[in-house]
Amino acid sequence: MPIIAPSLLASNFLNLQAECKMLNESVADWYHLDIMDGRFVPNISFGPMLVEFFRKATTKVCDVHLMIEDPGNYAEAFKKAGADILSVHIEACPHLHRNIQQIKNLGMQAGVAINPHTPVEALKDILGDIDLVCMMSVNPGFGGQSFIPHTLNKIKQLREMIDERALHVKIEIDGGVTLENAKTILDAGADVLVAGNTVFKAADPKAMIAALKNL
Ligand code: DX5
Ligand code: ZN
Repeated sequence: MPIIAPSLLASNFLNLQAECKMLNESVADWYHLDIMDGRFVPNISFGPMLVEFFRKATTKVCDVHLMIEDPGNYAEAFKKAGADILSVHIEACPHLHRNIQQIKNLGMQAGVAINPHTPVEALKDILGDIDLVCMMSVNPGFGGQSFIPHTLNKIKQLREMIDERALHVKIEIDGGVTLENAKTILDAGADVLVAGNTVFKAADPKAMIAALKNL
């Protein structure tokens, strides 16, 4: 069964308590929390303060996706806020290995996020050190965009790279995941489905989460 990680970016911020209650009662596995700085991506979302509230609202895994420059300056703050998994973008990290070591030393699982144009080969020398690849299937910065079909090839390639070396790295697909394309994404080799609009704009979000989980 896939891991389902609803992205709170698409939730109703005026009603977060109800949104968290819905998620907690659902079969969702992770809270996917999108952090944007207005520099690495052209949008600003929220920071550690809100992650801390989510941490208090749930016992589910808090999966924090940093779309920010200089993520090393903030890793400790997100650990303190309660992140279980912290992902940094390869495109924002000239010293990626150092960032990954820092995240692990802080006691979190470490993820590397890659943009749609970044080849999976770029992960080769870090793959043995990480727990998760957050593969962007849209250009990061906004929810509600369409899935980029080429991502399917990238998932297959990465699946092979991981299986060849018998690693336990999870492949997370982030952006434009729908009930219609999710099965194809899983068949290509993904382990984790992030879903923002598909979940939170559904008539019955809990049923949508269950539908994704049972694909
Ligand atoms: C985009 C974020 C995604 C986003 C996904 O930059 O990383 O997590 O919230 O939203 P949907 O599922 O609506 O494409
Ligand atoms: Zn994300």
